[in-house]
Amino acid sequence: MSPNQGLNRRAFLKNAGVTALVGAVGTGTSIATGAVVSAAFDAPGGTFDFDTPYNRIGTDSVKWDQQIRTYGKDNIAVGMGIADMDFKTAPAITKALMERLQHENWGYLDMPRSFAEGIVSWNQRRYGIDINPDLLVITTGVHPGLIAALKTFSPPGSKVLLTTPTYNGFYGDLTFCHLKAEESPMKLVDGRYSIDFDDFERRISHDTNTFILCNPQNPTGNCWSPEDLTRLGEICLRRRVVVLADEIHCDFVTRGNKYTPFASLPNKAIVNNSLTFKAASKSFGLAAMKCAWFFSDNADYLARVKANNRADLTTLGMIASRAAYADGEDWLNQCVAYIDGNHDFVESFVRANIPLVKCVKPQGTYLAWLDVSQVADRIRAQDMAAAESGKTTASGRPVTAETIVERYVVKSAKVHLNAGSTYGYGGAGHMRMNIATSRKTLELALTNLASALKNT
Ligand SMILES: Cc1ncc(COP(=O)(O)O)c(C=O)c1O
Repeated sequence: MSPNQGLNRRAFLKNAGVTALVGAVGTGTSIATGAVVSAAFDAPGGTFDFDTPYNRIGTDSVKWDQQIRTYGKDNIAVGMGIADMDFKTAPAITKALMERLQHENWGYLDMPRSFAEGIVSWNQRRYGIDINPDLLVITTGVHPGLIAALKTFSPPGSKVLLTTPTYNGFYGDLTFCHLKAEESPMKLVDGRYSIDFDDFERRISHDTNTFILCNPQNPTGNCWSPEDLTRLGEICLRRRVVVLADEIHCDFVTRGNKYTPFASLPNKAIVNNSLTFKAASKSFGLAAMKCAWFFSDNADYLARVKANNRADLTTLGMIASRAAYADGEDWLNQCVAYIDGNHDFVESFVRANIPLVKCVKPQGTYLAWLDVSQVADRIRAQDMAAAESGKTTASGRPVTAETIVERYVVKSAKVHLNAGSTYGYGGAGHMRMNIATSRKTLELALTNLASALKNT
């Protein structure tokens, strides 16, 4: 069976907004032909369209196609899992890529200065941080960057601090580096998470060398305040724990909240004890372009991590990220505002229509963290998971009450969500829902959930 089963090629290209350009692509031999029709990328009235659902099925996406492959196409109406966006990316990015595609050679790439300059200027104007371009390193993704840092500071068998629930991908990085997670559970009061600083410090021992900070925090959406970051930074500095600040979600901040870069803290000793990892990939929907970067004010740390960072730059990843930083800001601002509206929609919809689920609008990210503990109780998910003890899910993880809820939601609502248990201690009783999609798709997912859970 073809992996692209169900994909109508012509419809796919049309959907992707490419038809107007097909004549231009491949006809020129020079990279600077200008043959790509700029008008095709204009946003009418300066407004970008996030509202028209954009069909990704048939593109081998994890969010949609992987779930269809796992559960069957009749069982998935909406993929609301993995953290990438359903929107068409910024037209400025597509335009830059189309222009580059006219040159049909894909040899090794020398990193142009304009790429680093774009990153530096983006950080300066958007977050007020000055990155020294000599202390900026390109990597293939945030994961490879984090892995290089973990290999540098944390010997195999040692511990890495996490405040949980936290991004499940960190656990894979730790496994890859033969490290153990030291989880400091966050306090949860009325749906709001906060760090338990005493517990955090208590967990540091002679073999705890690194802390992975997630700011804003996936999956809870917390944007850490300057006070929180300073307190974490002080503890880590005093106890000789290097802070690895993963700030990949930094552009998604809801109304009234603020992202504080760890590198912007006024205490330079704290900042010098850290490295920051970022990318354009979350902000502009470029996850499979494999391009990210990290920096530090600490030249010694950076040189040591760089020695463990075996990264190659991909042409398309570089072109897309450079175009995003140069010409994508209007698109991003509108995207963030649209997602803010989606968060409001989720909160009010769930409150009005899904009494078994609780959720609070987060401070950041495009993720909703749903409390499904009552659903788990109703379907006796705990008992069912116990009956499957020793078995693993398709992704090789143990079967938990949350994976039972994941399956139940697919079966009854045809919606795929991510199981909270994969996000470490504190993830029990929760599911993560990615809301970076059109309002109609979101409404379909929520309506399906509401009717399925009414009879639960
Ligand atoms: C906090 C966080 N870090 C890193 C990643 C993945 O980064 P990359 O794809 O650049 O390796 C994700 C993806 O969801 C994430 O949420």
